[in-house]
Amino acid sequence: MADTLTITDNRTGRQYELAIADGAIRSTDLRQIKADADDQGLVTYDPAFMNTAACRSRITYIDGDKGILEYRGYPIEQLAEHSTYLETSYLIIFGELPSPAQLEGWTTQITLHTMLHENIKKLMEGFQYDAHPMGVFLSTVGAFSTFYPDAKQIFDEQSRKKQVHRLIAKVPTIAAYAYRHSIGRPYVYPDNELSFTGNFLNMLFRMTELKYKVNPVLERALDVLFILHADHEQNCSTSAMRGIGSSHVDPYSAMAGAAAALYGPLHGGANEAVLRMLNEIGSVEHIPAFIKRVKAGEGRLMGFGHRVYKSYDPRATIIKRTADQVFEVTGRNPLLDIALELERIALQDEYFVTRRLYPNVDFYSGLIYQAMGFPVTMFPVLFAIPRTAGWIAQWEEMLLDPEQKIARPKQLYVGAPRRDYVALGTRG
Ligand code: CMC
Repeated sequence: MADTLTITDNRTGRQYELAIADGAIRSTDLRQIKADADDQGLVTYDPAFMNTAACRSRITYIDGDKGILEYRGYPIEQLAEHSTYLETSYLIIFGELPSPAQLEGWTTQITLHTMLHENIKKLMEGFQYDAHPMGVFLSTVGAFSTFYPDAKQIFDEQSRKKQVHRLIAKVPTIAAYAYRHSIGRPYVYPDNELSFTGNFLNMLFRMTELKYKVNPVLERALDVLFILHADHEQNCSTSAMRGIGSSHVDPYSAMAGAAAALYGPLHGGANEAVLRMLNEIGSVEHIPAFIKRVKAGEGRLMGFGHRVYKSYDPRATIIKRTADQVFEVTGRNPLLDIALELERIALQDEYFVTRRLYPNVDFYSGLIYQAMGFPVTMFPVLFAIPRTAGWIAQWEEMLLDPEQKIARPKQLYVGAPRRDYVALGTRG
């Protein structure tokens, strides 16, 4: 017998049988439940989509209670240990780990698309000297749609593939230019002989040397961080990507919106906020007073808590390990002591324990980025680079899903009832 849910409407005494598939009922099945003939039918009310699945997805699986994260079925721990960001991005976008030939072809394509049009460079030069790199990043991604009008052919597979190559390859270049712009240094062109992250570090930090020497520990650490940030199912920015993309706009315009969503301090801006918070706390002795303020509702412990994870974020565990490797090269970040003590206290404090608030991906990533020499304003950009893989994969999945249409949530109207216009002179 098929799984069903029986609902009795006390208003009418009628009973309804709703089909359950994949642990869900269809909200549109509720429409038939009406109090009377004028009723438009029952809807579900779910602000912030706390309990609404808006798509079927084959990309990322999360079990928030158990602290499980998998891309296309592969555990994040195994990918962080054995894979590279480029291989993982291929997996996320195309669904399978690449064969050696496929990986070589993918790497070549990405390497060949890293350059930016010179006019993009000019466009970026127009920003204020102190422009936040994330503002520059998302504006430039949006501007791409004017440089690549062929991207409008969203139902042409070859065209989509081209935009995928461009996006994955060019986001580090935009990010690096945004950074160099903010510190008034000349832009460094991509070096095709370097790895994905090696080239990125080169574009960021190269000065007058003929060949930039990438530190292999930092190169690998950044690659691991990129793997960890590559996708995270239907989060705020991914939902933005899908929602905007559902209007059939080109992927650059949709991704500008996704990047804007990521910019916020409750999402990708959290790692920047963590660093500011640690600096503000200043020393271990100030932690109890800070925790007291958080518990009194005066601000949040940034880098803690997650809508989905109600246990330790598995990415945070890997990041903590990576931090140790990075600090061996760069020296210990003095803010680490404050972070470790904050975590220790919070994990045994009743307020955090009962609300199941644990460190998330952003709690330690900022400390690594800072030790590597990145200014805090670059942190959300460092999140956006790898998340591009997830955004594109989710966008394409949405486009090719016959069940998807333009996104259009319902509302419960609670405003004024119909009333007649009052002439300006006669208003009180
Ligand atoms: N510090 C103090 N209290 C918190 C925190 C925190 N970081 N997070 C949640 N709470 C409290 C919150 O006040 C509420 O308490 P009460 O029930 O007494 O009102 C309870 O925990 C539930 O919080 P919520 O706001 O309803 O939970 P949410 O699922 O809507 O929010 C969150 C999730 C990530 C936005 C939130 O935990 C938060 O603001 N964390 C700090 C920002 C942060 O680190 N964000 C990065 C998220 S991971 C990376 C990413 O996905 O971008």
